[in-house]
Formats: sequence, C-alpha cells, structure tokens
Amino acid sequence: MSKTGLFYGPMGGSVERIAKKIQDKLGEDKIDLVPVRDAAARDFDNYKFIIMGISTIGAHTWNHDTPSKDWDLFIKELKKVDYSNKTFALYGLGDHVSYANHFVDSLGILARELLSQGAKITGYCDTDDYEFNESQAVIDGKFIGLPLDEDFTPHETDSRLDKWLSRLMEEFV
Ligand SMILES: Cc1cc2nc3c(=O)[nH]c(=O)nc-3n(C[C@H](O)[C@H](O)[C@H](O)COP(=O)(O)O)c2cc1C
Repeated sequence: MSKTGLFYGPMGGSVERIAKKIQDKLGEDKIDLVPVRDAAARDFDNYKFIIMGISTIGAHTWNHDTPSKDWDLFIKELKKVDYSNKTFALYGLGDHVSYANHFVDSLGILARELLSQGAKITGYCDTDDYEFNESQAVIDGKFIGLPLDEDFTPHETDSRLDKWLSRLMEEFV
C-alpha cells in the first residue's frame, strides 16, 4: 500500500483529534498528517490516496478574530491539483442536534468542489445510520464521506471510523 496523505483543518479541535486517531489506527508508516494551513497544491503530488478532514464552522475557527487560514483559503489551491490517478475520501465533523438542517454541510461543499474538478471520491456512507434533517453532504442519496459528531455521539466515533477505514483500506492498495 502506498502512503496516504491526510489533509485536515482546522487544527486544535475535533478534526485534528480524529486525524491523529486515524493515524494511530492505521500506523504512522501508512499515513502522513498534513494541516491544510501549511499545505499547497503541490503537496498532493506525493500521494495517490488522500483523506481530507473538515468541520462545519467549528468552534476553533469561530473563536478567532482573524480570518481562518484553513479550508477557506486552501479550497482555492484545489483548482491547481492534477486529479488523475488519485482517489479521495473525506470525513466531516458536525453536530446533528444543534445543526440538524445543516449537518456536516462543509463536507458537501468540499466534496462538490473536488467533484467539479473531476476528482474520484470513495468512502460514501448510508444516511440511515444518522439522525438529521438536511445536509449538503448528501449526494445521490448517500453521504459523500464519513460524518462524525463528537459533540453528541462521540461513543459512535470508533465503530464508525473502524468500518469506514476497513472499507477504504480495501481500495487504497
Ligand atoms: C458557531 C458554530 C457553528 C456550527 N455550525 C455547524 C453546522 O452548520 N453544521 C454542523 O453539522 N455542525 C456545526 N457546528 C458543529 C461543529 O462542526 C462541531 O462542533 C465540530 O466537531 C467542530 O470541529 P473542530 O473543533 O475541529 O472545528 C458548529 C459549531 C459552532 C461552534
């Protein structure tokens, strides 16, 4: 298996904690963690398989007076990437109770940007496993990636991650 790049943001919250958890589960020799704050399009050149982690208006971003330096800036870099021979999988942090009508919307916004550039995305998830009303992350009846809710269902995170990662690892070979 070639090494996977896990591009994530913001730092310091649930998205980063999950990124480290994924690295622990799969092994440091298999996953490089790359904060998007420090990344450029050319960093994708190192990887055939890429996981992306994002939250929807996370507390970390919200609490800062200065504009975020994470996905809102990095999303422009995505236009410069050569998407041929790469496979992407996405996870998104959200809160299905307080934001049931916008559950993990940013996961969908990011995925739609990637799809518009011709990216191949894998790791879809059934919506039946979640309670929510509306989400921009639902594409063709499925979540375009793995939604996680560390605010209200943290006890579900490990089993959701394990199932998702084992499916991904069959494809990331
Ligand atoms: C101001 C604010 C707005 C939020 N908006 C949404 C939202 O629209 N949809 C959603 O699913 N979660 C929303 N959340 C929940 C965050 O996505 C969730 O807490 C996530 O775990 C934060 O991850 P982070 O700390 O890595 O940014 C919001 C949280 C805050 C504080």
